[in-house]
Amino acid sequence: MLEEIRAYYLEANDSSIKSLKDAEAFKKRFLSKNGVVNSLFLRFKKLSHDEKKAVGKDINLLKKLCQEKVKAVQKSSRSKLNVISDLTRPTSNFTGSAHPITIINNQINEIFKSLGFYISSGPEIEDDWHNFEALNLPKDHPARDMQDTFFVKLEPDILLRTHTSSVQVRHMNENQPPIRTVSPGRVFRNEAVSSRAHCIFHQIEGLYIDEKVSFIDMKNLLFVFAKKFFGKDVVLRFRPSYFPFTEPSAEMDVFLGTETQADYKLTKGTGWLEILGCGMVDPKVLSNCNIDQKKYSGYAFGMGVERIAMLKYGVKDLRLFFENDLNFLKQFN
Ligand code: DAH
Repeated sequence: MLEEIRAYYLEANDSSIKSLKDAEAFKKRFLSKNGVVNSLFLRFKKLSHDEKKAVGKDINLLKKLCQEKVKAVQKSSRSKLNVISDLTRPTSNFTGSAHPITIINNQINEIFKSLGFYISSGPEIEDDWHNFEALNLPKDHPARDMQDTFFVKLEPDILLRTHTSSVQVRHMNENQPPIRTVSPGRVFRNEAVSSRAHCIFHQIEGLYIDEKVSFIDMKNLLFVFAKKFFGKDVVLRFRPSYFPFTEPSAEMDVFLGTETQADYKLTKGTGWLEILGCGMVDPKVLSNCNIDQKKYSGYAFGMGVERIAMLKYGVKDLRLFFENDLNFLKQFN
């Protein structure tokens, strides 16, 4: 019997088990009720005391070997499964290239990082409070019309954020000054799609809160940013504007000209393209977010990434960024 057990041992040892299916067949042959190991044990019971001593040890060794081989395959296939099911894992052999919006997004973030800002983020599905109410936009406020909203659920209102300013609110609720953050992300508006507008686009929100922050600090920062990004010859314009969450408010435009028909259309005949809105955070917004408005002041800004990408790359139709046309996308890498 010892010879027989040794032969089984060699057979088990040499069996190659590569998949769970192989493991099942192996288990059936060696470890099932009618399998090799069990039938050896049945015969073992009938042996004399002395024979049992020698044989028992070898059967147990065989059993252990079989169990370990099965376990090893099960473990490795489980970890393979984990790898497959974690779709967020970065791939090691990435052969694609970055989308132009991602490239621009990263470039903008890097500039703000070099100016002392850190990156933060918030959810795309928001509630009414964070997207509107806390930002001084109560339910019946006419400025809500500027941001036609996709609602996910009514009462309580859950919506797709219409701007990244909602991240300001979340960030101030969770952090005390000094705050110097930029928050990139996707935003959604129920707008007709055209060469200048889309219902999904990207913004980068900026927020700077500290003691004694002034409007001129903001203007300087935004000019430094624009010159770093577009080059020092960029022609900029800062003009007064209105946002319910900032007072005073402004917008910054970049000069494009009206020489070509596309530029004329893109700038609505003015030659200027607006790239961001900004202003001093309204004290009411500060107190809505538990920041002491007597001690602190600050500024905020929100820029449209597609607009900036259009300017930087000379793309005249914003829709191209969403169409996934490889011939278009290949030009940026
Ligand atoms: N949230 C505004 C928009 O989407 C942009 C904006 C304007 C953001 C002024 C700001 C700001 O933080 O201060 O049109």
